[in-house]
Amino acid sequence: MSAAVQETVATEWASAAAASVVARCDTLAALTETPGRITRVYLSPEHARANDTVRAWMQDAGLDTWQDAAGNLHGRVSGPTPDAPVLLLGSHLDTVVDAGRYDGVVGVLMAVEVVARLARDHGALPFALEVVAFSDEEGTRFGKALLGSSAVAGVWDDAWWDLCDADGTTLRAAFTAFGLDPERVHDAAVDPARLVGYLEAHIEQGPYLEQADQALGLVTSIASARRFTVQAVGEARHAGGTPYERRHDALLAAAEAALAVERICRAEQHIGTVGTMAVEPGAVNVVPGLATFAVDLRGEFDEGRDRVWDAIVAAFHEIGERRGVVVTPTEVHRAPAVFCAPRLMDAVRAGIVATGEPAPLELFSRAGHDAMSLGLVTDVAMLFLRNPDGISHHPDEFVAAPDVALGLDALTAAVERLARDHVPAGDGGDA
Ligand code: GLV
Ligand code: MN
Ligand code: MN
Repeated sequence: MSAAVQETVATEWASAAAASVVARCDTLAALTETPGRITRVYLSPEHARANDTVRAWMQDAGLDTWQDAAGNLHGRVSGPTPDAPVLLLGSHLDTVVDAGRYDGVVGVLMAVEVVARLARDHGALPFALEVVAFSDEEGTRFGKALLGSSAVAGVWDDAWWDLCDADGTTLRAAFTAFGLDPERVHDAAVDPARLVGYLEAHIEQGPYLEQADQALGLVTSIASARRFTVQAVGEARHAGGTPYERRHDALLAAAEAALAVERICRAEQHIGTVGTMAVEPGAVNVVPGLATFAVDLRGEFDEGRDRVWDAIVAAFHEIGERRGVVVTPTEVHRAPAVFCAPRLMDAVRAGIVATGEPAPLELFSRAGHDAMSLGLVTDVAMLFLRNPDGISHHPDEFVAAPDVALGLDALTAAVERLARDHVPAGDGGDA
């Protein structure tokens, strides 16, 4: 007898809500610093406009809203008592340069729909529901990622204040220009003792769900990450008059260094990318004297990531010695691997199964997410949505509305499951 084929079909509510989510992603795509491309970075005028736009949608959905001391936007539906625990849901509104329209944004807008629906249909759940639209996940402007969620998790590091953007504006100055008070950033921190946990829906940003022919997936852990700015300092000289043996070409040292990152990461099954490279003085007839580039390194575990970085540094040193170029990396971002909590994973898995998928794909996230910061202080879990062709951080990034609809049903069912299983603090519960 052949096994019955399960159909994954979204509810009518979810199909309508998904259409609205996708339309709102289009609206937010227009809030950009460069017409025709989506670029919306931390503490920019577009960040403020995105917060205003999403705030209005949250309020229409019946959520109480506020912007916190780090520029994150919150929308909340109260619990049964003022001191009830809080389940956080969310993702981010900032983007990379020339981004797609769904990375982060779709998770924020899905959370708004789910929270509004649960508040309407269930009245008071045993906990408050709070959507957070994080303000900086990508690190596009200051190099350091997860600034918004680090403030909410209470792991803000005052050493970050002197980070500069490409124009030399410090993070501290950008805070002030945005109307925020740097002295108050710690006010954005939530009390972890009050949290039930954090749930995030996000497009996959890779091909595995599409390969498995599944709309939704369950994240098991999120990659450990480090980022560096590297300076290769050689000597600028005449391109015609300087023999090869007298050259200290910073660009060629940097190019070899970039190839070393790829070679070592491939051999060690890690992921390393050189995503920027700038050369000075930058003239056709001058041997480059300075090259500055960025390295993004990821792995499943912190120990492996650090071992691979040590090998890369050794290769940089060898290249620099050989070429008479001083290669110096400076770390700008470090985030440990985060493992999703079995309790919340069970709820998300049950949510996906409820959509008709009996055996959801479980996968490790090679991309970074706000859940990495929250995971330092509370339980987290993530729901992935199929990303056709696995293309993200690119204008062709896509998620289909029917998959968003299934995601909305799954996320709703996951929260319902957590509500059903919730044991109040003092009764042996965890919140
Ligand atoms: C964010 O999308 C990252 O993984 O860099
Ligand atoms: Mn991203
Ligand atoms: Mn993202």
